Amino acid sequence: MSLIDSIRQGGLALLQRIESFFDAFFGSAGNPWRHLGALGFYLIWIVIATGIYLFAVLDTGIEDIHTSIEYYTREQWWLGGILRSLHRYAADGLVLVMLLHILREFLYGRFHGFRWYSWITGVPTIWLVYASGIGGYWLVWDQLGLFSAVASAEWFDWLPIFSTPATRNFLPGALTDRFFSLLVFLHIGIPLILLLALWVHIQRVSQSDVFPSRSLAIGSLAMLLALALVKPTVSHGKADLSMVSTVLHIDWYYLFIHPLMYATSPAGLWAIAGIFTLLLLALPLLPHPKQTPIAVVNPPNCNGCRRCFVDCPYGAVAMLPHPDKPGHELAHVIPELCASCGICAGACPSSTPFRSIEQLVTGIDMPQQPVGALREEMERKIAALSGPVKIAVFGCECAADARRLENADTAVLNLMCSGLLPPSFVEYALRSGADGVLVTGCREGSCAYRFGAQWTEQRLTGRREPHLRPAVPVERLRLAWADRHEMSGLKEMLEDFRNHLQTLGADEKRLRAYTPRRIVQNG
Ligand code: HEM
Ligand code: SF4
Ligand code: SF4
Repeated sequence: MSLIDSIRQGGLALLQRIESFFDAFFGSAGNPWRHLGALGFYLIWIVIATGIYLFAVLDTGIEDIHTSIEYYTREQWWLGGILRSLHRYAADGLVLVMLLHILREFLYGRFHGFRWYSWITGVPTIWLVYASGIGGYWLVWDQLGLFSAVASAEWFDWLPIFSTPATRNFLPGALTDRFFSLLVFLHIGIPLILLLALWVHIQRVSQSDVFPSRSLAIGSLAMLLALALVKPTVSHGKADLSMVSTVLHIDWYYLFIHPLMYATSPAGLWAIAGIFTLLLLALPLLPHPKQTPIAVVNPPNCNGCRRCFVDCPYGAVAMLPHPDKPGHELAHVIPELCASCGICAGACPSSTPFRSIEQLVTGIDMPQQPVGALREEMERKIAALSGPVKIAVFGCECAADARRLENADTAVLNLMCSGLLPPSFVEYALRSGADGVLVTGCREGSCAYRFGAQWTEQRLTGRREPHLRPAVPVERLRLAWADRHEMSGLKEMLEDFRNHLQTLGADEKRLRAYTPRRIVQNG
């Protein structure tokens, strides 16, 4: 294991503990750590909405800009002041959320293979977020804005791009109203480019998580509002080109680059920013595990139902006109987009083990873990079980290691992703001799393939196709989501399930009398 991998694994173990801690309070859907991208988008919308009001009441003349901001900060604090603070704190929040999002994606190892696109297209957004935010400080045109503008000009003057130094603009009497119109234009234009860049960024993930849950949205807004009321944003004194300010309250989220430049040099800051950017861009080139085989469509078993197309987390399935059946469609896997997760195999109605064919071949399958082989493994392992309560466990390679639960009375089938589990396998396991089925996998937001656990839960609870037949006794099925570090929790959940199964009466075992392979799965 390389040094970077060791650091990553250590960091990931810590991050997952923090995420579990937050789960306990907010649940997976409301846990900010699990929805950082969505939170980032939400903060951008707050920045834009508040910015529209601020722009409408702003006087962009060089003499009046500071006065007009002072007016709505102090006289109209109950509207303009609060919106200004919200604008500022949401922008700060965006930096924090973006940095945590980068760290999280890095720790989860989501920067190589088919994910190179999401990673690489994320990098320019860092520059755009900073350019948008720093420009906002200049607009206020107070002493901090002047300091930031001069420091930025000094930084850019190091590059051989201007015929006359940009810092000359800040000599007394040199600034005009046109300069501020340009600033307003940039402060509106760059965030628009940021939105465009983010649109590009999420192109390769389908059904992207861009809206936080209601609880997360309300909670974050309430926090920002509380901050705006407790510590309203105020300006420094009006910018004065003829004097140098000594005391400035720096916004470290954005303006840390200026003290960093004065502590090093303009060239030093370019080197730091450049190396950081290049390192991020180079990460996908690091050696990484070889990608496993991609999904394969078996045309005779595909009825064109589109479930794989809908459920694929990376938009890797396209529905094309069927070459032999006019008016019908056929699934097609786009190799360069496929993450080899198997979620499509779990979605396919042909994946039912009840089909009365000796060799089970499904519509879309994973060569490394075909559904037919899974059925054989399940039959074999369940037949070998002994003891008063027999349990079949469907595990996930990316989550808490289910294989460690294997026992004389517990058969474990470890899947590439819990999303590969066709719901009919649960019924089949019960009919084949298991007294109960436990399904485990990563928690929402931790799934290596985004939707594995979510889709599985929805399928097993009848909210998504293919669904588990209502005839299956729900008391014999247990969902036990557990991330990699939650092995002891998983063991406890299995023990609890075993005790629960022991208490069930014999009449609830009706399903076991059924002979497998005659029924056609409903859905
Ligand atoms: C303002 C900045 C950013 C925002 C608002 C943002 C937002 C998002 C969103 C909404 C997603 C989709 C999440 C999902 O549906 O599962 C996503 C995915 C992703 N982002 Fe960002 N992003 C930002 C910056 C970055 C940066 C700077 C990087 C890395 C350099 C990055 C790396 C990724 C990766 C690798 C994924 C794919 C995750 C996966 O395949 O599961 N993002 N981002
Ligand atoms: S294996 Fe995963 S990424 Fe590939 S087509 Fe199936 S669902 Fe999509
Ligand atoms: S889920 Fe199966 S049957 Fe439906 S379109 Fe995909 S491969 Fe074809």
